[in-house]
Amino acid sequence: MTDSVQALPALIDASRHEIAATASIDDLEQIRVRLLGKKGSVTELLKSLGGMDPEARRTAGAKINEAKQALTAALEERRAALESAKLAAQLASDAVDVTLPGRGQAIGGLHPVTRVRRRIEQIFRNAGFTVADGPEIEDDWHNFTALNIPENHPARAMHDTFYFGDGRLLRTHTSPVQVRSMEQSKPPLRLIAPGRVYRSDSDMTHTPMFHQLEGLVVDEGITFANMKAILHGFMRELFEKDVKMRLRPSYFPFTEPSAEVDISCVSCGGSGCRVCKQTGWVEVSGCGVVHPNVLKAVNIDPERYTGYAFGMGIDRLTMLRYNVNDIRLYFENDLRFLKQFA
Ligand code: PHE
Repeated sequence: MTDSVQALPALIDASRHEIAATASIDDLEQIRVRLLGKKGSVTELLKSLGGMDPEARRTAGAKINEAKQALTAALEERRAALESAKLAAQLASDAVDVTLPGRGQAIGGLHPVTRVRRRIEQIFRNAGFTVADGPEIEDDWHNFTALNIPENHPARAMHDTFYFGDGRLLRTHTSPVQVRSMEQSKPPLRLIAPGRVYRSDSDMTHTPMFHQLEGLVVDEGITFANMKAILHGFMRELFEKDVKMRLRPSYFPFTEPSAEVDISCVSCGGSGCRVCKQTGWVEVSGCGVVHPNVLKAVNIDPERYTGYAFGMGIDRLTMLRYNVNDIRLYFENDLRFLKQFA
């Protein structure tokens, strides 16, 4: 018997200790390769059997095979132990403590401007108005020309328009919906059109995008007085207060006569405060009798039909209703601000 075969019990012993001490399946695999792999020490011993005489081969062969079995068994046992430990660790780390309280679902709320817009729509629906809609990307005809604002009219400069390269533009007011509605349907018309409008302007009371509410009524025998009654009734409904209203002469190319609408300050009731700059009045709308040129532009006979139109800032009405003095707060998406209205 060769020395190596005689040393087998010692090798088995040492290997068992080493196997028992391995902490990973990778390390264990390295030990297996070193002992039983193609060039492993026990495999080499088996190869050396060929050079022995038959008697020695039998005894040595038996010993080597015994060693191989013992080592295989030790490796297998250790591998099983390491694998189940690994699984147990994984299960422990993935564990969910079902007794912990849930994260909860925060319930969202409507944006204050949306709330006020819906409220306005409801008030006008109750008065028999329909709610119309129009595109935010407009053409020159609908935003200006059909509204009696021809090219080179100074009113165009006042609008701080955002233009696209191809002549289209972001609508600067909701008045183009007047034109579209009259192109689509013939009188009687009684509608409002809320929506986004755009002007290149930004400070505490102006944002480049803001919301307007257009109103249009066209029928036979419609008068300035009808408009005044509707607007006053609307303001009282909206603010749930007996607000006073006054009209001041003004100018818009698409209405004649035209007026600015003031209401008694909803913050101080008219005695004077910061909101109304101590005047007791706040401006909330522009309005007037639809200009005959506008009716002509959409083929409505101005001899037979008359109408009135108004435009107001929804954001401004929202500021007044909730007593907020900086319009930019509405569009910063700061949840701490928005949550107060939920
Ligand atoms: N379109 C006008 C504006 O943006 C408001 C307005 C609408 C005035 C309808 C009169 C009639 O300022």
